[in-house]
Amino acid sequence: MPSLQLHDIDACVFDAYGTLFDFNNAASAARDELGDDWQRLSDLWRLKQLQYTWLRGLTQQHADFWQVTGDALDFALATLKIERPGLRERLMKLYLQLGTYPEVPAMLRELKRRGMKLAILSNGSPTMLAAVVTNSALDGVFDAVLSVEEVGVYKPHPSVYDLAAKRLKLAPSRICFLSSNGWDACSAKAFGFRVIWCNRFAQVPERIPAAPDGEIINLSQLPAMLGQ
Ligand code: LAC
Repeated sequence: MPSLQLHDIDACVFDAYGTLFDFNNAASAARDELGDDWQRLSDLWRLKQLQYTWLRGLTQQHADFWQVTGDALDFALATLKIERPGLRERLMKLYLQLGTYPEVPAMLRELKRRGMKLAILSNGSPTMLAAVVTNSALDGVFDAVLSVEEVGVYKPHPSVYDLAAKRLKLAPSRICFLSSNGWDACSAKAFGFRVIWCNRFAQVPERIPAAPDGEIINLSQLPAMLGQ
């Protein structure tokens, strides 16, 4: 059993991309066209996607995550000098079909069996989130699937985290937030959630305000951390 135990948690709120859903699936599924470049493409695509969310926030030029994801893909393809007819459209379509990390369905089932409220809180647009939830046969599992589109600004703006607390009608201290993104985990902690960093990618801690309450390497460890 993990040493950290969190008590008095009424809801688990999950980040989507990289935490529940594997964003590498898209480029990996197009390996027949990308060859050995698929991982570099995937890494750069993700990096630029996140950078563009922060830049759009700072410059107050919000556009939804579908637009930002497409812009980031265009940058990554151009940087790697990959030009193939139809590839951009194929990769964007694959982004709507991402699967979960292997442990996710059983972990969600176990938490739901215990009566835990479950939600997604993501940069993803409502259409993108609905697509990956359905594709992973998770319809009906979540009490709320929340998109930043409701507040019109990306993570880590505090109004995003506040959306989950308001919608679930819970004090932030009753919510356990899970993200594989260190910056998202720290920012959610600064907002007031209790936070477990799902450090799937074995990253070193971010040097920004607020440290998560705990760290796990995948979500299979989560149910044992939540006190009954
Ligand atoms: C999300 C990104 C940050 O789902 O992974 O919000």
